[in-house]
Amino acid sequence: MAYRIQEGRLGAAFDCAADDALLRAGLRAGLPLAYECNAGGCGTCKFELLDGEIVEAWPAAPGLSERDRGRRRFLACQSRPASDCRIRMIGRGEAAEAPLPVRVGATLESVLDLTHDMREFRFATDRPAAFLPGQYALLSLPGLPSMRAYSMSNIANDAGEWHFIIRRVRGGAATSLLFDLRPGAPVTLDGPYGRAYLRTGASRNVVCIAGGSGLSPMIGIARGLDRLGGEPLGSVDFFYGGRSADDICGEALLRNLPRLGESLRFHPIVSNEDSRWTGRIGMVHELVADLPKEAFAEADFYLAGPPPMAEAVVSLLSRGRAVPADRIHYDRFF
Ligand SMILES: Cc1cc2nc3c(=O)[nH]c(=O)nc-3n(C[C@H](O)[C@H](O)[C@H](O)COP(=O)(O)OP(=O)(O)OC[C@H]3O[C@@H](n4cnc5c(N)ncnc54)[C@H](O)[C@@H]3O)c2cc1C
Ligand code: FES
Repeated sequence: MAYRIQEGRLGAAFDCAADDALLRAGLRAGLPLAYECNAGGCGTCKFELLDGEIVEAWPAAPGLSERDRGRRRFLACQSRPASDCRIRMIGRGEAAEAPLPVRVGATLESVLDLTHDMREFRFATDRPAAFLPGQYALLSLPGLPSMRAYSMSNIANDAGEWHFIIRRVRGGAATSLLFDLRPGAPVTLDGPYGRAYLRTGASRNVVCIAGGSGLSPMIGIARGLDRLGGEPLGSVDFFYGGRSADDICGEALLRNLPRLGESLRFHPIVSNEDSRWTGRIGMVHELVADLPKEAFAEADFYLAGPPPMAEAVVSLLSRGRAVPADRIHYDRFF
């Protein structure tokens, strides 16, 4: 069953199935709705309910304040329709060049251990995997009522392969299930989503900055760069921050990318004192700050990781180094 949704900011209408979220149905219809995390955390997808009934998947989602709740504001990524509705999105979205998101069944094919708590999970669908490097998908896992977002570490392909580098969260509802899945297990995959995808028009240098599980989309960006035809690549500076020496990985995956070759510089850093570590200790944005001044004037910046890391890096780039907003691309991980 589907309901008709009238959206006032764009003056557009779309159908939304009773089991779909208003945000995702609008994006499936090709509307440029405002969003970022798809997970209830950022608040970018807020809307005002003018008429009709909705059901909230996660009423306590942190993306809404008490003030929002008092003003009949809801999160489009957490709202399913229970009738035809009239809504007005609060934020302004941007048109994306990415494929439209779809829901498909997928099967776990294999897993690859990268560190003590990070694995690359490889899922397969029976249709081509269509997405831009750096985007993410939502996984529905058997037994878990809410979906979780995971970023693809690979690039689009006709074989229907979707790879995700995922960090196990101690006591985490989704990752506990994921790390127990065996090859052959079915999941539902909904995507692609995300605005932090590789921009191919510019022939600038690229800086990738990852914290923890933010490695996945940054590896996806690097793999996308490796496959770009045409212009020779500029420099690729890849920063990766972990807590201790055990967390640092990714360089071997990057060194396997033939086109990156000499253009690639890998800069790891750990935040905890660690006797096994001979490199820099500190936060990843402190290492980025050491780039020469010219690097900030010329590069496109991609970053992924937890909100405190994203905020520190964005503050350094935009306030500290005057990098314009259209050269900083990120989706925060909530
Ligand atoms: C855009 C994006 C991309 C991401 N990419 C990756 C990636 O590539 N690799 C990776 O390891 N992690 C990634 N994450 C983080 C990932 O989605 C999970 O938050 C993480 O795996 C922990 O999940 P968990 O269920 O094990 O932990 P939990 O601590 O149980 O839950 C984690 C998160 O799930 C959400 N949540 C909690 N309760 C509910 C509820 N009732 N309904 C809906 N949502 C709820 C909240 O956002 C919470 O912070 C990404 C997150 C986002 C937003
Ligand atoms: S809270 Fe809906 S997109 Fe982030």
